[in-house]
Amino acid sequence: MDTRSEINRRRTFAIISHPDAGKTTLTEKFLLYGGAIQLAGAVKGKKSARHAVSDWMEIEKQRGISVTSSVMQFQYEGYCINILDTPGHQDFSEDTYRTLMAADSAVMVIDAAKGVEAQTRKLFKVCTMRHIPIFTFVNKMDRDARSPYDLLDEIEKELGIQTYPMNWPIGSGIDFKGVYDREHSSIITFTGNGNAREATATEVDLSDSSLENTLGENLYQTLRDDVELLDGAGYEFDLESVQNGRLSPVFFGSALTNFGVEPFLEAFLKMTSSPLPRHTAEGTVDPFDNAFSAFVFKIQANMNKAHRDRIAFMRICSGKFEKGMEVQHVQGGRKIKLSQPQQMMAQSREIIDEAYAGDIIGVFDPGIFSIGDTVCTPGKKIQFEGIPTFAPEFFCRVRQKDTMKRKQFVKGTEQIAQEGAIQVFREIGGGMEEVIVGVVGTLQFDVFKYRLENEYNVDILMENLPYSLIRWIDTPDVDLKTLNLTSDTKKVQDMRGRYLLLFSNEWSISWALEHNEGLELSEFSR
Ligand code: G4P
Repeated sequence: MDTRSEINRRRTFAIISHPDAGKTTLTEKFLLYGGAIQLAGAVKGKKSARHAVSDWMEIEKQRGISVTSSVMQFQYEGYCINILDTPGHQDFSEDTYRTLMAADSAVMVIDAAKGVEAQTRKLFKVCTMRHIPIFTFVNKMDRDARSPYDLLDEIEKELGIQTYPMNWPIGSGIDFKGVYDREHSSIITFTGNGNAREATATEVDLSDSSLENTLGENLYQTLRDDVELLDGAGYEFDLESVQNGRLSPVFFGSALTNFGVEPFLEAFLKMTSSPLPRHTAEGTVDPFDNAFSAFVFKIQANMNKAHRDRIAFMRICSGKFEKGMEVQHVQGGRKIKLSQPQQMMAQSREIIDEAYAGDIIGVFDPGIFSIGDTVCTPGKKIQFEGIPTFAPEFFCRVRQKDTMKRKQFVKGTEQIAQEGAIQVFREIGGGMEEVIVGVVGTLQFDVFKYRLENEYNVDILMENLPYSLIRWIDTPDVDLKTLNLTSDTKKVQDMRGRYLLLFSNEWSISWALEHNEGLELSEFSR
């Protein structure tokens, strides 16, 4: 197949949900359709020993949540699909945001009984910030669910996005009878097979006279009313609004029983596009451009303890990657070869010879890449837009228990900071024996501690600090000693030596600005 056709058949999307909404189950069903795995559930046992294909870190297994993203590729009906898994917890929304940067669309899984949960509101908001198409799968219809009207209303209000139900559920829980497919005006009935993990789907026309018997009088009448209401009052379906992230097509189904998954996948593939063009300061990069280009959206050390390596994940934005080819690392200002190019499937990695725009590849990183870096065919002068860093909201003072482990502590802390999982600050003029770590969500502290213990063999002491806001000092040649600050404001330095202030509240920021003429503060590092 030629490069153009290869790129054309790629679909790259992120999958996002609150923990337990069914992201792993839905992903597994997708992989089953693609033949990438043979048996659902084979990859996932009981909760205590839970280990899904996409969860590979020990801490994930222990807590049953994904804390890192991973990538899976599979083939389905001629498409080559890349699924980017995201951590299902708001404390990792920054990681999710970066992953979304590498995706062309997102699938959002919602538990039908819970709707948009408080814990993940922030995570989902991050999704709408990117303006990529968002497809919603309302899962677990085989269990008692909330009213579909309420669910849609909540999604619209919470996320500021319009919704368009592609199908409509008929009952829920033990009364779940299936869904009404709005495009085809047909019913897909749901019949449990005495086994909670499987159901049969049968298609019946809405005008079929036997339908009332199948659904029962009540559900049949409700369905007729619902259909009338939806067709009369609902939004028009508009593919353009879907593609620019203003309208989310919503599908109801049940991932566990495999009900509505394949129709969802098919509709989704029809509505999404092949890899999208990307913006750079030098203009738009066309994915079909012959020249290769990619950007780093994630760095992860020690994915495999035995290898002690560091992998930079890149999203290919244009052209074709070939093993051994020479590329320009734009930020590093030099030509390099991307070594050990690989594609991931949970724990297994495969060295690849070629990859195309839309694909994600992992390459060995000898410590030269940063998140947001561009690599491209030498001579192609481009630089992709950077990936913003979120301001940390929680701070801890951290030091190693055993001072003999200083080297490992510094290395581990630096590496984890380079991955973008934490931000590290020092006392003014201080060393690395004791640092201040800032994170976006407190679970990141647990991951940091766990990883230092397990990957670097360092035990640490952590002390919570009362700060929640951070500002970099932009004033050139600022004299820190003369700054007039509230007693609960702390002066620190980042790893690049720039000065910044940690505040406990907005009021202290206003105080600092009012009492120090000419002081310039910014929320982001430059
Ligand atoms: P997550 O990745 O979003 O965290 O969710 P995951 O797929 O792990 O699903 C969370 C739980 O919800 C699992 O149960 C899973 O079996 C169940 N589940 C997923 N989809 C459906 C569905 O459509 N209907 C019903 N009834 N349940 C669903 P578990 O008890 O945690 O694990 P397991 O013992 O089933 O493996």
